[in-house]
Amino acid sequence: MAEIAFRNVTKRYGQTVAVGDASFTVDDNEFFCFFGPPLSGKSTILRLILGLETPDQGEVLIDGRPVNAVSPAERNVAMVFQNLALFPHMTARENVCFPLVERRVAAADIERRLADVAAKLHIGHILHKPPAQLSGGERQRVAIARALVRDPAAYLMDDPISALDARLREETRVELKRIQRELGKTLIYVTHDQEEAMSVADRMAILEGGRIRQIGTPAEIYDAPANTYVARLLGSPMMNILDSQRGSGGVVAADGAIRIADQAVPGEATSIGVRPEDLKVMPWVEGAEGTPARVYEVEPLGGYTVVTLDAGASRLRALMRGQPDIRTEAQVALSCDPRRVHYFGQGGGALAR
Ligand SMILES: Nc1ncnc2c1ncn2[C@@H]1O[C@H](COP(=O)(O)OP(=O)(O)O)[C@@H](O)[C@H]1O
Ligand SMILES: [Mg+2]
Repeated sequence: MAEIAFRNVTKRYGQTVAVGDASFTVDDNEFFCFFGPPLSGKSTILRLILGLETPDQGEVLIDGRPVNAVSPAERNVAMVFQNLALFPHMTARENVCFPLVERRVAAADIERRLADVAAKLHIGHILHKPPAQLSGGERQRVAIARALVRDPAAYLMDDPISALDARLREETRVELKRIQRELGKTLIYVTHDQEEAMSVADRMAILEGGRIRQIGTPAEIYDAPANTYVARLLGSPMMNILDSQRGSGGVVAADGAIRIADQAVPGEATSIGVRPEDLKVMPWVEGAEGTPARVYEVEPLGGYTVVTLDAGASRLRALMRGQPDIRTEAQVALSCDPRRVHYFGQGGGALAR
């Protein structure tokens, strides 16, 4: 059982603020993700939880108890490091069992737990090999197994599957999700891949330069990003964000190509955001609903198609199901459901409607 929290934690390296005034609470049994670009402070947050770093300000709490002065060993948190840190002279089996041997766990217990994690992570057939004879994906699973074999209060994983190829990554993240649910343990997970973060997390925190910009479930953040930074970070293709002006009876953007006749539009909106899947693209016919735009390029991706459009001086991207009959240079009618439009004010903060 472990609830892990930061209260106004700041960690600096010289002039660099690696983590700035961060506060969050990860609930017991939660799969919690930190997501942000490189150098946004993700690994530093994990090292602060693990106890490899001490905050300059603020407090780290485990189950409500301040642990700033508690050693890593006493915190009872298991970490999978970004570089895996497997022992090269040991077999996979010895690597996985090492934390248990070190803690003098009984041999029969070790065998039982090893068999359990080996089955969960499909590594039974490679346990006799040293890391040098394993593929990148196998090494990654061995490193995860070494953390799982312990019985810690919480697991921390620093981008644990980034070295895998795309297909294996998709498989492994599903397994991780299942394993976390079965274990019923707190898991704090770091990734720089937005799709991975959204797919695994119960809740996630979005980081920018060491600052937490939003915390919520993937669906909450996707549906209501708190600012344009978060809006652009989640979703692929990314949200269209366009300068907007107040017009008669609503708001216009993209030189009038998008018009939202909606009295509920917040008056202070300086830009609007529309997700590619919320843009409706129809063949242009006289009297069509929507405003004209020109197709710049079409990317058929099988199950869906990305259409890049020029509307006024703005370039927009729309996501369409299947393989619509739309060609480059065609004129199309563009519209969007006003209820799906996001509004942002000066400085990029989202406006309530
Ligand atoms: N040991 C360190 N010494 C100096 N600067 C560091 C150290 N660790 C991290 N930083 C700096 O702190 C910031 C956050 O780094 P990090 O937590 O590793 O980010 P991420 O894991 O998101 O890539 C970066 O600017 C990085 O250069
Ligand atoms: Mg890192």
